[in-house]
Order: sequence, then C-alpha cells, then structure tokens
Amino acid sequence: MTILNNISLKEYNTFGVEVYAKRFVSISSFYDLQQLLKTEKELFLLSGGSNMLLTKDIEKLVTFINFKGISIDRENENSVHITVNSGENWHEFVLWCISQDYGGIENLSLIPGNVGTCPIQNIGAYGVEVKDTITKVEALEIETGKLVPFSNTDCEFGYRNSIFKNHAKGKYILTSVSFQLTKTTHQLNTSYGAIETALKEKNITNPTIKDVSDAVIAIRKSKLPDPKEIGNSGSFFKNPVITTQQFIEIQKQHPTIPSYKISETETKVPAGWLVEQCEFKGKRFGDAGVHEKQALVLVNYGNASGKEIHQLAQNIQQAVFKKFQISLEIEVNIF
Ligand code: EPU
Repeated sequence: MTILNNISLKEYNTFGVEVYAKRFVSISSFYDLQQLLKTEKELFLLSGGSNMLLTKDIEKLVTFINFKGISIDRENENSVHITVNSGENWHEFVLWCISQDYGGIENLSLIPGNVGTCPIQNIGAYGVEVKDTITKVEALEIETGKLVPFSNTDCEFGYRNSIFKNHAKGKYILTSVSFQLTKTTHQLNTSYGAIETALKEKNITNPTIKDVSDAVIAIRKSKLPDPKEIGNSGSFFKNPVITTQQFIEIQKQHPTIPSYKISETETKVPAGWLVEQCEFKGKRFGDAGVHEKQALVLVNYGNASGKEIHQLAQNIQQAVFKKFQISLEIEVNIF
C-alpha cells in the first residue's frame, strides 16, 4: 500500500475528465483498508468512476477500491447465492453469470462501473433494477472500522436511489455485494419494446438469458456512447416525476410526449425527450456535448473540463425549466 502524489484521474473516471489527486492510494485487500482507516478518516472513494463528474482537483486522499473475487455461497437446483467483491467490473460479472447460466441480471448488461457501486444508485435498465437480485451488501464503517451487513430492506432502494446516497452517504465503504440468481427457472424480462423487437428481428421465440443479454448489448451500443471512445457517465439526469395534472397540460401542447404512469396522480416523463425538445440533442460546446442519439447523456469529446460539463448541465436544466416548468435532477455525483 503506497500513497502516491499528484496523480491524474483521467483514466479513473468514465467522463475522462482531467483532474488531479493530491494523494492517491490503491487498496486491494480488506486488511490494507482497515490499516489505512487507522490513520486516515477523510477519504475520497473511487471505484469504477462511472457515476461521477469531477470538477476540481481532489484534496482528500483518493482511495481506489480494488477488491477482486467472486464466490458462490450456496446453491440448490433453482438458485445460486453469489458474493462479489466491490472492485469487480460489473459487465464482466454479468458475462460470467451468463456463461454459467445464472439469470436475473442479463438486462443490466454493458452498464459501466464496478459491482461495489451498483447498489448505491440501484442501477437499472430495460425493465430491471439491480435491487431485484441483491440479498446483502457489506460495508466497512469508516468511523469504527467494523464490517456492517445491510439486508436488501436496509438498503432502502428506490429509483436510482438507496441509503448510500442518503443518510449513509460518506459513512461506509462498500466491500461486497451478494446476489441471488436463478439457475433453471429464469424469469426473463423481455417486455421492454426494443428488446422484443431485437429478438423478433433474429427470429428468436424462446430466448435464453444470453439472447436477452445480446439484445441489450446491441440496443445499448446503438444508443449509448462507449466511455472508452467518448467520455460519458450514462444518464446525466433522472427521469422526472410530475403531477398528472401538469402532464395533461404539457400533453395538450405536445401530444407526442412519452410517459409512464406512476400512480393516479403522478406521471414520469423521459428527461431525454425534454432535453431534445429544448434542442440540445447532438449539440456541442467546445469538447462538452449532448449525445446525438440519447439526449440524456452528456459527453466529453476529449478535453472538456468537469466545470464545462457541469455548466452545460445547468444550461439544460434552465432551458427545460423555462419551457416545461420541470426541474431536472442530476443523477451523477458532482465533486
Ligand atoms: N427519448 C427522446 N429523446 C432522446 C432520448 C429518449 O425522445 O434523446 C424518448 C424515447 O423516444 C423514449 C423515451 O424517451 O420514448 C425513453 O427513452 P429510453 O428508452 O432511451 O430510456 P430513458 O428513460 O431515456 C432510462 C435509463 C437508462 C436505461 C434506459 C433503458 C434513467 C435516468 N435512464 O433511459 O439508464 O438504459 O432507460 O432502460 O432512468 C443510466 O442510468 O445511465 C442509463 C443509461
């Protein structure tokens, strides 16, 4: 465990933004983490770097969590319980599950980031959220150095939300996540329109989890930029929930507005549609931009600073509010 000075974090965040860590340490064992916590309490935790926008150099000790390892806790004919250390890459874990014919997370293929951060924002895509398969999260309490288990209920999961974004924020270091996946009785979720279409195009009537994963990968590749090619952090904003009354008013002016009914009184509208209506889709301001195929995704074409991307996000928020009186909430963590 060596503390390094003045390290560029460009390779450590999927936006590819250049800021510097005054001090940086990579931690690959639980023991090292406990040792570190004896002397350092003010850590800036970094894992997959896939849900953050860095706008300035980091003063705190940047601690890169790099715990590896996947273990099977128990299994029977129908299901398997797996514990995955937080530094494992999410998509590689999904592919490994598919190769073992373990079902439940195939719709979450190709999401950037590491396993340890998937519960924080309760990653979700194509009709599935990771909370549906998580049985336990283990985390080290920074204050005490003790390992604390969180059950699924303890995690207080919500749409792109959990306890780790709220009152547990900054208090824990997530060390592992446990999942329950299916072995024989896979519950495929193919109702999401684009998945159905992709399967039909391939004449697949009885899909396997691999077919669903392949379809999701193809859809994501066609819509979402690969962070290895163009820096981005996935959806930059959450899809806002508005009153159904406000929705009906907007619909009168914009009959094509897509929506998802949440309840009798609440309706969710896609932020990507709102941003597109404000004519930001595909626009570029220096090296900061809005992706041409999905207006919910802000991109770094190379050398945009975090501040420039943040400014663009604020301009979008203002334009959407002016046109629709809807406040877009930023989903990515800004530092
Ligand atoms: N839309 C537009 N213009 C756009 C983008 C979308 O009009 O530029 C419209 C689409 O036509 C569609 C609706 O908005 O009618 C929804 O679009 P899409 O299916 O692409 O999904 P989304 O709501 O924009 C959410 C997640 C994504 C996830 C997809 C698929 C959030 C904030 N985003 O996007 O998650 O992949 O659904 O399930 O909930 C992420 O969180 O990083 C992420 C990529």
